[in-house]
Amino acid sequence: MPAKAPAPKDPVRPPLVAVVGATGAVGREALSILAERGHPADRIIALASARSAGERLPYADAAVTVAALTDDFPACDAALFCATADIARAHAPGAVAAGALVVDNSSAFRMDPAVPLVVPEINASAIADARLIANPNCSTIILLTALNPLRERFGVARIVVSTYQAVSGAGLEAVAELQAQTRAVLDGRPAEPSVFPEPCAFNVFSHESPLDPATGLNGEESKMIAESRRIWNDPGLILIPTCVRVPVLRAHTQSALVTLENPATEDDLRAALAAAPGVALLDDRAHNRFPTPLGATGGDPVLAGRIRRFSPTEFSLLIAGDQLRKGAALNAVQIMDLLT
Ligand SMILES: NC(=O)c1ccc[n+]([C@@H]2O[C@H](COP(=O)([O-])OP(=O)(O)OC[C@H]3O[C@@H](n4cnc5c(N)ncnc54)[C@H](OP(=O)(O)O)[C@@H]3O)[C@@H](O)[C@H]2O)c1
Repeated sequence: MPAKAPAPKDPVRPPLVAVVGATGAVGREALSILAERGHPADRIIALASARSAGERLPYADAAVTVAALTDDFPACDAALFCATADIARAHAPGAVAAGALVVDNSSAFRMDPAVPLVVPEINASAIADARLIANPNCSTIILLTALNPLRERFGVARIVVSTYQAVSGAGLEAVAELQAQTRAVLDGRPAEPSVFPEPCAFNVFSHESPLDPATGLNGEESKMIAESRRIWNDPGLILIPTCVRVPVLRAHTQSALVTLENPATEDDLRAALAAAPGVALLDDRAHNRFPTPLGATGGDPVLAGRIRRFSPTEFSLLIAGDQLRKGAALNAVQIMDLLT
């Protein structure tokens, strides 16, 4: 079925927005961002599995009621998909056909050449007249948001990055697992993993996504490489990632060693980061204050700092970003805002 033409922007009536996966970690954050922006509750359609139908989710001072996602996608102006890749593949085309601008948080369409992969601060123009847009992987969004101002000013030839990823990146069940395991271990009981292959309390382990036996890269690392090349339109970009889970509830931290194409000073980098959209510079050597996941939690900007120069073109940085906000829901809402 051909997609309906997008409705012209109504200056008075806010868009009718469907949130698919509204009960999950990303979906709840999308609702919270919409509520913060004053989006009225009666312009929200909260969708999840049939298990959650009828559940009331807090929304500003009120609540929204969850309906079951069915094959008959409701008419709406925009749909934020915050569910699995399978659900996106099954329902996003129907949502577009029903007239919605669709932004998908899953990996379903990220490498589809017909679907733009967008971080608004970097490549908003890639959207053109698309009605289905893919949100990049959370680690990719956080890394590129912080490094894009350096790329624009000095060029980026190579990145070596190690991630320290929060458990909520694996959804709400993973949050419950870290909380339960932490209590168990403190009470002298064993940690019993179920969402993750390893205990997550008091532990650090290689990212749980499937590992390619030929390259040794896990899925998260492969996504960071492929998606960064696509967003920056730089197929030759050298990106060497090591993705790791840490016992943090929320917000991903990254330690990046960046090789620039042109020489710069630490102050040049500070100036570029301080002026960049979506980035907050936190580089306080005097007080040893640098980006942390707790500092990034709940905030919009990606924090960048701990800038150190190892040669005229080699710098290391510490980056932290709330992966449920800029790494997922906020990026999706920003895309929606550009188009509705
Ligand atoms: N967590 C992150 O930091 C993050 C960051 C970037 C991208 N993502 C991506 O965002 C998506 C959501 O992740 P999440 O962490 O929010 O997962 P989650 O907490 O596990 O939530 C999953 C959501 O999907 C819904 N769902 C499951 N089966 C469904 C069905 N048959 N029909 C309709 N809805 C269904 C769930 O509804 P019920 O409650 O009814 O089961 C829930 O609302 C994933 O594709 C993930 O890869 C996540």
